[in-house]
Amino acid sequence: MSKFLINGGKKLFGDLQITAAKNAYLPILAACVLCEDKITLHNYPYYSDTESMCKILSSLGALISCENGDLTVDASSLFSWGIKSELASQVRSSIFMLGALLGRFKKARVAYPGGCEIGARPIDIHLAGFRKLGVVVEEKHGFIQCDASNMHSGKILLEFPSVGATESLMMASVLTNGVTHILNAAKEPEIVDLQNFLVKMGAKIWGAGTGEIIVEGVKKLKGCDYDPIKDRIIAGTYLIATAMCGGDVTLYGVKPDHLGALIDKLDKTACNIEAKSDKIRVKASGKPIALGKIETSVYPGLPTDLQAQILALSTISEGSSMICENVFESRFKHVPELVKMGADVHVKDRVAFVRGVKKLYGASVTGMELRGTASLILAGLVAEGYTTVSGAKHIDRGYASIEKELSLIGADIKRVED
Ligand code: UD1
Repeated sequence: MSKFLINGGKKLFGDLQITAAKNAYLPILAACVLCEDKITLHNYPYYSDTESMCKILSSLGALISCENGDLTVDASSLFSWGIKSELASQVRSSIFMLGALLGRFKKARVAYPGGCEIGARPIDIHLAGFRKLGVVVEEKHGFIQCDASNMHSGKILLEFPSVGATESLMMASVLTNGVTHILNAAKEPEIVDLQNFLVKMGAKIWGAGTGEIIVEGVKKLKGCDYDPIKDRIIAGTYLIATAMCGGDVTLYGVKPDHLGALIDKLDKTACNIEAKSDKIRVKASGKPIALGKIETSVYPGLPTDLQAQILALSTISEGSSMICENVFESRFKHVPELVKMGADVHVKDRVAFVRGVKKLYGASVTGMELRGTASLILAGLVAEGYTTVSGAKHIDRGYASIEKELSLIGADIKRVED
């Protein structure tokens, strides 16, 4: 079991290249099974979630290799449409495989997915969408079994613009006869990226980034190469880290538009931000000013995946903040750990009330999920003295090597084994 040892109080300076987006790569990896030709994906990021997804593809019979950052997936030899529970439980995105396998085999069997502990995370919206397209869905003994022999096109109105459900339905319908409309679709940049990838494979699909996605089924998809977008949440984490610690950091690769809501909030309160086509420069000195009322919401609102990091920033800002978590119901597990470091935070239902303190102090804290663990690392970077953050396995799900990246810009952080 590894943990991070941080000697806080260092300012951050330098440049960082942002790695590919976990949440773009995962559905794109799933979509590779829709076609029998080779696919090459560039700039493959070594996150444990993407590695788990590759293991799932291999277990189905896909041949996978990686050279110089290019991941090649050859799904021509796929022999199985069922995902074992020990693999599905490692990553929630195993649920994407349902849509992709239905597209390819017209049947699929997936164990209930795993993933971060941030609430109930049901999959009813995915399954309701499949049923609307004529898929027979059976849920028993911890498995979801789908038969799409009579699958057809149709109009699906999502009860909530779920990112995963939108992606599952895009994949399920690209090889289905007729025209399918996905209404109240999620608008996240990763949805647009999945559409761009599917189009490169020969799919007829448009509307991603708006509330209505239209898919005109085609008979077959073809191989291609593709470079998924960079990770806006990693970029947001480093932007907030600089706002907390002070310094001058430039992040390359990520599109500032993808972080519009965060940049609007932080610029001129917590730091100064200069955003150009694919680079973001953040300069910070002095104490950040509290952001006031913050609410997470679906894109283009403030992403729930940055809530924990924003909360960490609020703990050392001048003034009070009120942070409402509107997307997941149980996403404040980092709060008691931040309180151990001297933060003044009270949670009531889905709202955290934060009063900025002068200083945080180093402590031994434990991360319970991916983004919460990132927030504890940020707190450790700004705290006085040494902090140990246990739960590195959570961070590794979505950051390729957070300690190396932060060290590159001047943080004193290392990974140590228990
Ligand atoms: C994706 C992201 C995750 C991010 C989240 C919200 C990936 C791999 N993960 O997760 O990092 O935090 O979007 O931006 O892309 N819901 C239901 N029923 C469903 C599906 C979802 O009730 O069938 C609820 C969830 O419990 C949650 C909300 O809808 O409260 C949003 O979930 P969703 O958008 O589906 O998130 P994920 O796709 O799981």
